[in-house]
Amino acid sequence: MHPMLNVAVKAARRAGNVIQRASLNLDTIRVEKKKSNDFVTEVDRAAEQAIIDVINEAYPRHAILAEESGAKGMGGAEFEWIIDPIDGTTNFIHGHPQYAISIALAHKGQIQQAVVFDPNRNDLYTATRGVGAFLNDRRIRVSRRIQLNECVISTGFPVVDQSMIDTYLAILKDVIGKSAGARREGAASLDLCNVACGRVDGFFEFNLKPWDIAAGSLIVQEAGGIVTDMHGEQTWLESGDIVAASPKVLAQLLQIIAPHVKG
Ligand code: IPD
Ligand code: CA
Ligand code: CA
Repeated sequence: MHPMLNVAVKAARRAGNVIQRASLNLDTIRVEKKKSNDFVTEVDRAAEQAIIDVINEAYPRHAILAEESGAKGMGGAEFEWIIDPIDGTTNFIHGHPQYAISIALAHKGQIQQAVVFDPNRNDLYTATRGVGAFLNDRRIRVSRRIQLNECVISTGFPVVDQSMIDTYLAILKDVIGKSAGARREGAASLDLCNVACGRVDGFFEFNLKPWDIAAGSLIVQEAGGIVTDMHGEQTWLESGDIVAASPKVLAQLLQIIAPHVKG
């Protein structure tokens, strides 16, 4: 395993311990509202600190972009770690076991290493650019389904910024009508990993943040999938608008989504 990936795995497992210990006493956890439908807990912060401590110990000069503490280090740094300590905080608060730790490492702006750790299933998803994607050390591939009407598509509802809810619902209506079903599970990093190992055939969501998608996207790409924005372009990390699937399914999803969205 690449040494930088090894550090990411160590950090993710450390955070997983913090989170799972806290999950035994959910009632005592303080929850704060960042904005409407956007929550943070002391556990998010403690898990994030545990991750940063591991990374700082190994690579004190690397920059860090983390959801709860923001950006640290020099702008334009060669290496940047992109961290979501709990992706799926709303699920976590509700004791709904669908959340993960997401850690990516970008080198000169390109994501090179990725870890998504699901502490409830003890599932560790990893990828190194050019080397492949793995679930618990076994190679994973995107699904082989070709026809959209046989495909299950996952998505995320726009609950924080609802300015485009009507557009979103029109897209969802078309996707439901033309696929074998839609799923909303509540943790974008795991949605992407589910695409990578073929448990769902595609995923789309608007307005995500880099820490939601940086790691999961490399895992999809290294599993043979494609990641684009709603117009098939490569702006997804900046725009947060993302579609991920195998090449054939992606084309059919874009045909549904793009006409609803201004270019
Ligand atoms: C959220 C999850 C969710 C997605 C939201 C994200 P958080 O991340 O990934 O699936 O729909 O848009 O904000 O806030 O739980 O880290
Ligand atoms: Ca997130
Ligand atoms: Ca989070």
